[in-house]
Formats: sequence, structure tokens, C-alpha cells
Amino acid sequence: MKSDLNPAASKYVGDVAKNYDERRKDKPITKADDAFIAKFLDSCEQGAKVLDLPAGTGRAVSAVLDRQLHYIGADISEDMLAVCKQKIGDRSDARTIVVDARSTGLPDDAVDYLISIKFMKWLPDDDFVTDVLKEFRRVCRKSAIVNIKVDKNISLSKKIIGLLRSHSSRPHARFFNEDRFANLCSQAGWTVREVVENPESKGRVKFFVLD
Ligand SMILES: C[S@@+](CC[C@H](N)C(=O)[O-])C[C@H]1O[C@@H](n2cnc3c(N)ncnc32)[C@H](O)[C@@H]1O
Repeated sequence: MKSDLNPAASKYVGDVAKNYDERRKDKPITKADDAFIAKFLDSCEQGAKVLDLPAGTGRAVSAVLDRQLHYIGADISEDMLAVCKQKIGDRSDARTIVVDARSTGLPDDAVDYLISIKFMKWLPDDDFVTDVLKEFRRVCRKSAIVNIKVDKNISLSKKIIGLLRSHSSRPHARFFNEDRFANLCSQAGWTVREVVENPESKGRVKFFVLD
């Protein structure tokens, strides 16, 4: 595993992991994300393998297993995966692995589909994003969904705050230029099939459907 980790690699531990679901479950934006994930899973071939990276507490576990798909939840945080494991219970068609998203250790084409929610915003620079997208391409045979925060319409004050935060060592979420992100996807070997806005995000969160 590479040692130069992104700052958010150590953020989701202890109480942050324990309280993660409770703090998000009633948010309209979370529900809209879940609806989009469900729609994507509805389009997956029967019996396919789905990699959820980063799985976090396993928000997609039941959505995947209810559709008779196989689930692999991968994350760098053992504490987040501990909650994910509780959701999996004794299901034999699901498992978790502790990984850095840039080098998962999975074989080429290990899975058919991949979902990556609320992750790109924590990656510090374009090189890191490209490494992750390349690893996604290597392990995923068919399609993926990835969401990003877009920088459209952000106020000057938010841009200044973003700039200041980018010089601090605390983990901070990053905004993407949509076209720039599409380019990074292409550089990593993906074709952008569709870009879909989270309807509860006021245009700030977009899903990329990648083939
Ligand atoms: C905001 S959470 C999102 C979790 C889940 N996808 C969701 O939508 O609830 C970000 C997750 O990224 C994980 N993470 C951070 N850096 C990582 C890395 N380099 N490799 C794998 N997982 C990482 C964290 O442990 C955390 O669980």
C-alpha cells in the first residue's frame, strides 16, 4: 500500500465511523444519492459482482444484495468497514477488504461494476484522482458510477475559503471543474456515458456514469 495517503484516509475512524450513518440518514441529498445508486444497480446484469469503493459503512450493501448481485465493500478504514460488516451479517455473497483505492490488490477485471460515492472530493490533486480512476478501470470490467462536487456557481467567498483550506493540513472537500473531471476519466481509460445531477444538490453534486 502506498504511504503518501490522502488526508481523509485517517478521518473516518472511531466515533466518526460509529455516528456516520446516523448523521446522514435523513438528508435529502443522501436519499437522492441512494436513488441514483439504486437505478444504476437496476441496470446491472444478474449475478454480477459490484465493488463499492470506498464502501464506508456499506450504504449500498442492501441495495446490492436485494438485487441478487455480489457485493465487495472496500475501504481504507477498518472502523467504517466494521459497520459495513454488521450490515452484511452472514451473507456469503458479500465481503469486505481493507485497501488503498490506488492499489486494491484485486486482479484485473475482478468485478463487473463499481460504485464510488463521496470520495473524489477528498483526493488532494489530479494525479491522485487519475491514479484512483486508473485502478478503477483496471479492476472493473464494465461500468462505474462516480460522483463529484462541481465548482459551478460557487461564490467568490467560498473560492477564497477553498484556497485557504487547500493550504491547511486538515482534510477539506474539493470542487471539480466538470470538463476537467471528464478529461481525467478519459485519461484513465473511461468513456463518459452520462452526467447526472443530484436533484437535491442545487447543481453541486454530479454523477458520472462511466463505461
Ligand atoms: C465520505 S466517506 C464515503 C463512504 C461511502 N462511499 C458513502 O457514500 O457513504 C469517504 C470514505 O473514503 C474512505 N477513504 C479515504 N481515503 C481512502 C483511500 N485512499 N482508499 C480507500 N478508502 C479511502 C474513508 O475511510 C471513508 O470511508
